[in-house]
Amino acid sequence: MADPQLTVVEQQLGAVYDAMHAARARTTIVGGLYGQAMGDLYPAEVAASSSTDWALLGTMVANLRMQPGQRLVDVGCGTGGVGLWLARALAACVTGVDVSSTALGLAAARARHFGLPAECADFRLGSLGSTGLPARYADGLVCVDALGHEKDRRKALEEIRRVLTGRPGGPHVRPVPGSAGAAAVERTGAANRPDPGRRGGAAPRTRDVAARLPVVG
Ligand SMILES: C[S@@+](CC[C@H](N)C(=O)[O-])C[C@H]1O[C@@H](n2cnc3c(N)ncnc32)[C@H](O)[C@@H]1O
Repeated sequence: MADPQLTVVEQQLGAVYDAMHAARARTTIVGGLYGQAMGDLYPAEVAASSSTDWALLGTMVANLRMQPGQRLVDVGCGTGGVGLWLARALAACVTGVDVSSTALGLAAARARHFGLPAECADFRLGSLGSTGLPARYADGLVCVDALGHEKDRRKALEEIRRVLTGRPGGPHVRPVPGSAGAAAVERTGAANRPDPGRRGGAAPRTRDVAARLPVVG
């Protein structure tokens, strides 16, 4: 797998997030505040650095529609809770990508807690625009509260498209409504298949979502 070179800006971003993740790891205050604010909607085990709640986890599971043994990619994975939780729920393997090496270290250390064997939980340095992952590597992909920090969202979406495996019809990207700053993305060839969750037909395709990204945040 290629070792992606982070740009200077991405390295600076990584340093900022290194400090944030290190500070969060030293205290339970932030998790406690999330818990207080979200009540029983808060999935404490995930300990996300985002407002991921039980509803968003459920929406991601439903949209990903993955099979056991497949590979989930979590871009902007932070300390890995979202991807690890999803991988356990879906009997999948997870590859997390982030610009923060501190977050990646913390994420790797959590894999055992989620019962994932080492070969099934991989966390690597990379950015939304340059993940370093091979083309068609992922069977499903999530990106929670990271795309909003990316200036070149079109490049990030093109990278997501490249990493996702396409069945005939190609991958499509599905923004999760009502979750500020979060987008769940799946690959499936069923871009033109009627989606029971959407009135009137097919899920939006990548280029539609690219146009709507300011809405996705
Ligand atoms: C708010 S945290 C969310 C982490 C995780 N997705 C979660 O929900 O717990 C944002 C994460 O995205 C990462 N990030 C931000 N911009 C990124 C970029 N351009 N490429 C890769 N990671 C990025 C940060 O390092 C940070 O760990």
